[in-house]
Amino acid sequence: MADISDIVRCPSSHERLTLDRAAGKFATTNGITYSFENEIGCFLASASENDGNRSTRTFYDEGGWAIDTDGLYEDTKRFVDTRPTSLRFTRACMTRLGKYFNTGGQYLLDAGSGPIAHKELLAYSDKFEKRVCLDLSVPALHEARRKLGDRGIYLQGDLTGLPIQSNVIDAVMSYHVIYQLPPHLQAAAFRELWRVLKPGGVAVIVYWWADPKLPRQVQRFADILRGKGRQPSYPTPQAAATNVPDHNPLSLEWFKSQDWPFRYKFDTYRIVANSFLQSSIPDDWRGAVFLGFLMTLQRLAPGYCGRHGLMPAIVLRKPA
Ligand SMILES: C[S@@+](CC[C@H](N)C(=O)[O-])C[C@H]1O[C@@H](n2cnc3c(N)ncnc32)[C@H](O)[C@@H]1O
Repeated sequence: MADISDIVRCPSSHERLTLDRAAGKFATTNGITYSFENEIGCFLASASENDGNRSTRTFYDEGGWAIDTDGLYEDTKRFVDTRPTSLRFTRACMTRLGKYFNTGGQYLLDAGSGPIAHKELLAYSDKFEKRVCLDLSVPALHEARRKLGDRGIYLQGDLTGLPIQSNVIDAVMSYHVIYQLPPHLQAAAFRELWRVLKPGGVAVIVYWWADPKLPRQVQRFADILRGKGRQPSYPTPQAAATNVPDHNPLSLEWFKSQDWPFRYKFDTYRIVANSFLQSSIPDDWRGAVFLGFLMTLQRLAPGYCGRHGLMPAIVLRKPA
């Protein structure tokens, strides 16, 4: 039976940890301890001034994952176009990538799980014994636990130093997380996800490219259809917003220039931003037709859309 003590390790000394459930703590043989409360293993110190994740942690701990009476999270309301036509498209994009998780296994790591805000993402773990939810935010993990109960393992931790042993995870998903990290820590997060993956396993990482060309072309096409002529710029999401998680996308060139320990393929999550959906997609049959066209493009040319669209799905497979 898959259990939390079978996969955790100390994020600083890398030693194995023993769980004392009665005492509510994990310990290494050298006496380093971590708390285990309400089924959540806490492997992070409190956010400090020089914590690179501080603004992201503050946003999510102080209301980012608060839920309203309609069941919508604050983060979803702020960053997802929830009008029916756009939301159907976004949900179809999530469902399309579910194909990577069909073989199932013991553990699916959801790195930066949040509260598992969408039922389409929740379904990814149907064929796994346990979904390992890891996040900076304890409120998010409480929500994830409300949905998964004992089918989940809950870890408060940092993607750049996972409290997880090497080669133990059958499949990894990390959606909309790594671009929230400070730029100099993003490569370390990719490497950590690779480290914990079992041989034969697959990792799908949804990222956000800085300044890709395809969204600009799609914007021009949408503007022509709407009779607005050429627009000089593609709107930058969150540009003027305050109290938001960090947003530090790097470029395709940056990604390709890294000396990775893995080979990768590009698929696509979605080629356009929510700001595009909000500003250019009417919530009616015209919007549905346009988004149907984008979905067809994503299905027919996933690699191209992954390289040049806004949000690639970067797929890593560890040789068996
Ligand atoms: C935009 S939300 C995405 C949530 C979920 N993956 C989804 O697609 O709905 C980003 C989540 O990543 C978490 N996160 C950000 N930086 C992290 C880090 N360094 N380590 C672990 N989690 C992190 C945040 O706390 C937040 O819950």
